[in-house]
Amino acid sequence: MCGIVGIVGREAVAQRLFDGLKRLEYRGYDSAGICTVQNGEFERRRAEGKLENLARELTVEPLYGDVGIAHTRWATHGAPTVDNAHPHIAGPVALVHNGIIENFKPLRDELLADGRKFLSETDSEVVAHLVAREIERGASPTDAVATVLPRLHGAFAIAFLFKDYPDQIIGARMGAPLTVGYGQGENYLGSDALALAPLTQKIAYLEEGDWAVVERDRIQIYDRANQPVTRVIVESGASSARIEKGNYRHYMQKEIFEQPIVVAQTLQSYVRPFEGKVALPDFDFDLSTVNRVTIVACGTSFYAGMVAKYWFEQFARVPVDIDVASEFRYRQPVLEPGGLALFISQSGETADTLAALRHAREEGQVIAVVVNVPTSSMAREADLLLPTHAGPEIGVASTKAFTCQLAVLAALAANLARAKGRMSEEEEREIVAHLQEAPEAMNLALGHDDDIAQHAHLVAPARDVLYLGRGPDYPMALEGALKLKEISYIHAEGYAAGEMKHGPIALIDDLVPVIVLAPSGPLFEKTVSNMQEVRARGGKIILISDAKGLAEAGDGCVATIEMPEVHPLIAPLVYAVPVQLLAYHVAVAKGTDVDQPRNLAKSVTVE
Ligand code: M6R
Repeated sequence: MCGIVGIVGREAVAQRLFDGLKRLEYRGYDSAGICTVQNGEFERRRAEGKLENLARELTVEPLYGDVGIAHTRWATHGAPTVDNAHPHIAGPVALVHNGIIENFKPLRDELLADGRKFLSETDSEVVAHLVAREIERGASPTDAVATVLPRLHGAFAIAFLFKDYPDQIIGARMGAPLTVGYGQGENYLGSDALALAPLTQKIAYLEEGDWAVVERDRIQIYDRANQPVTRVIVESGASSARIEKGNYRHYMQKEIFEQPIVVAQTLQSYVRPFEGKVALPDFDFDLSTVNRVTIVACGTSFYAGMVAKYWFEQFARVPVDIDVASEFRYRQPVLEPGGLALFISQSGETADTLAALRHAREEGQVIAVVVNVPTSSMAREADLLLPTHAGPEIGVASTKAFTCQLAVLAALAANLARAKGRMSEEEEREIVAHLQEAPEAMNLALGHDDDIAQHAHLVAPARDVLYLGRGPDYPMALEGALKLKEISYIHAEGYAAGEMKHGPIALIDDLVPVIVLAPSGPLFEKTVSNMQEVRARGGKIILISDAKGLAEAGDGCVATIEMPEVHPLIAPLVYAVPVQLLAYHVAVAKGTDVDQPRNLAKSVTVE
């Protein structure tokens, strides 16, 4: 969740560390800080809140020094105050940490009993003190780190800076990502390739338990047994260009509008339109042997998985289990031979999903990963890697990654159906044709942006909002509610429309906008009946449907949003657009921070 950068440089590092943090701000923006060594002393600047506050600090009091570490924080232990902001300093050691030290309490008690004074409420500060204590007892930085690392439980990526050893930084990882970067006469550490992209394209990913001594002209990596190891140096391919908003007001808005293009790009890798065939990247196992699919993901990616469950069962007739990743490992799921475990993630770094993936591997499952960041940890651990080609998603609210996930999952469902002999050539050709229609249908949906912006005033004043759908539109209702919650801070719930009468309908009054997703098709009439039950109780309905659906059921709604008439297979891709736009315009009307909503981070690398 937090972002880390470190530079052992030949010239001043503060500005470059700050630029690295800018590229990592998606990991957290509760506070930020930089520490360098100048004339044998630590110099540190920290600020609460967004990076612009740290930039102000650096303008008032610039930082010098050619070695330093930097951090952008998503708070776990301790409020997002300056005192809790990283880097933390304990005597001769400064440190930045991403992750959670689960045994920090006994370690802190031990250090307190030893007379050490803590200046923050964080779990991270204990690590600085442990290493500082070893150094004060005469250990070298390398020996101190090697002694302390085995004592830490939990997940971490850490960078250490040493006041008396200004020629090195030590980085360590366990359960959180960390890369080392190779430069010309200087070397780097970073949470990901993106952070280091303007500095170098030559990087190595540290493996679990690795730690690395980074000096100007060499990097020595050790494994968890403290044995020197080499890790492959790769060309990161991460773009050093800062992603711009162009003419859009927010990244989220830009990303919503990019969807027809990136979905089309994604589909290019998964369908052969002229042959009427679906396709998958190369892999070496036989899909026809898959007898169960277990889908695991978090947040929006989980809702993409929920939609996919309908497709896998309908097309391939393969039973599907689906779990949120944070629950999966802890319910002792039964994972039998022949199972395909499918993990869906934009970032490929979500700690809950990654831990679930490793658990499924231990249980003998074949691992498929649908992921947007091709260099991510999940991508590197997949047997079957299914990249989405959404391009970098900057807005914290996931939009284009979601619809690209849906495109890949639909193609995967069709591939599975073909492999299992449950789909004729004709049916496959039809699926390909419908998938090919999705980008244009999404374009048409985007054409209703102005109407949707008008309707935002019906939702913005509400305290609670309900979203209803049936079948694959039920997860879309959940996704609509999540989008609204996270960027407008309005309480919203998604319900299966038919479930309303079993309790939630008690919530309905004329203050609760109810957004109904009802494409005309097999479930339309039933959804509309549920909608009428809500309307009869005073609910203010915003109906999202196609012209046919609106003609049949639009009367009496406070607003309607017209979608193109599409095949049910691609309806989730198309109906994603209005729910995203509605959440976006409500957030704009409320004046919230659309791209960096409070309390959130783009990549959630703590469990
Ligand atoms: O990177 P991932 O797809 O694994 O992230 C999962 C969730 O954290 C993510 O979808 C989150 O719910 C988004 N903010 C939703 O917009």
